[in-house]
Formats: sequence, structure tokens, C-alpha cells
Amino acid sequence: HPELIIAEDYQDLSRKAALRVAEQIKKKPTTVLGLATGKTPLGLYRELIRLHQEEGLDFSRVKTFNLDEYYGISPEDKRSFHYYMWENLFKHLNIPRGNIHLPDGGAQDIEEECRRYEEAIREAGGIDLQVLGIGSNGHIGFNEPGTEWGSLTHLAKLTPETIKDNEEEGGEGIPGFALTMGIKTIMRANRILLLAYGESKASIIARALKGPVDKSVPASILQLHPGLVVIVDKEAAKFL
Ligand code: GLP
Repeated sequence: HPELIIAEDYQDLSRKAALRVAEQIKKKPTTVLGLATGKTPLGLYRELIRLHQEEGLDFSRVKTFNLDEYYGISPEDKRSFHYYMWENLFKHLNIPRGNIHLPDGGAQDIEEECRRYEEAIREAGGIDLQVLGIGSNGHIGFNEPGTEWGSLTHLAKLTPETIKDNEEEGGEGIPGFALTMGIKTIMRANRILLLAYGESKASIIARALKGPVDKSVPASILQLHPGLVVIVDKEAAKFL
């Protein structure tokens, strides 16, 4: 049932994803976006910056909520998702600082921070469009295999596999814990844009979209989301 788009390559995937996001913002200038980090959305962010700079796509009333942030490091830390988001997207757009939200990985009171984050999403009116990547073990956000379907924003322990994957991108010494939106937080979004590219994602994308809905593959729950759009490149689509 999900709308499945098979792109020619990564550039094509990034353009198609950006068009979806741009359409959403034009339709509703006060759109609330859910955003992801990792390698996958970098091309999408590059395209959004281009659409802003060359075509005047307006972010002045857009609000954003990121999926997750490492626990125990400051926003200025180069390993943080705060840093990633500012460098790769926010500093290039006309989005007001106050409209940008990420979990605070340096918070003293974790439970309070998780509650605060959920409340902020609710106050903004909920997420209109959530951008998602997928981990090689099927995680979404940092919801690792076994996470409860009913989970809200919480402190998650990362698997050794996830730490290894993310160290390949973000350098040495990735924290072992993160604050992440829960599965239920993600499923509450009105629409979800799931992106994956490259052969290394082919088997997990097939398990997520065609396999049983099971907690061992957190992304499999997305099969039950009525507003799911999947954009993959040819390589990631190999087993679909
Ligand atoms: C990270 C992030 C996820 C991301 C995933 C895939 O751990 N927490 O939000 O989707 O891993 O990353 P990549 O796009 O680099 O493959």
C-alpha cells in the first residue's frame, strides 16, 4: 500500500524527496517538519537549500523537530546532531532559531526533557511530515530492535552495530546512548517520507516493507502508517 518511488540514483532520490517537502511547505507555510540525520538526508537538505536560495522557498514559518540527539554531549560538540543540522541545513535557511527543536542531550533531568519534547511537538500541532532514514538493523530514529511500539521520546541504548555504523560517519567516540522520539511519536506524524539508498540498505528495506510487522525490525511498523511515502534508489530497491 505505501506509495513507492524508485529513483534513478541518489541525486534523483534527493530531488524527489525535496519536491515532496517543498510541496508540503507551499501548501502549508506553517508546516511542522520532522527531520533525520545520517548520510541519507544530506542530498535532500542540499536540494532544500537550493530551493530556498534559487526559488525563494520560504522557511520563515516552518517548525522542525529532529528525531534524536546523542546523550551526554553538548550542542556545540561536532559529533552532535545539533551541529550536523546547523551545518547541513539550518544556517543556510531563513528559519527562526525559535522554530527549531532537537532533544537536549545535555539535559540533567532526562525524563523531564523527554516529556518537554513530546509536549513541544503537541503544542506545535503535531508533525505534518516526518523525514526518516533506516538503520542497517531496521532502526528508525534511535529506536533499536525490540523497542515497544507504544514508546514516546525516551533515552535509548544504542547497539554496538549502530555505534559502529555511526562512527564511520561521525568520527570516533560516539556516545552509547541517545534521546530519541519513540515509535509512537513517529507514527503520530501525518505523513512519513522514508528514504534509503544503496545496496547496503536493500535487504533491510525489503524486510521493513514486505516482512512481518515485528519489533525485531522497528521500521516494519511503518507498513501500518496510512501516509507513508517511500523513496529509494534502484540499488536499495533490489529486493522489493
Ligand atoms: C542513525 C540515525 C537515524 C538514521 C540512520 C541511518 O543512527 N539515528 O535517524 O536514519 O542511522 O543512517 P544513514 O542515513 O547514515 O544510513
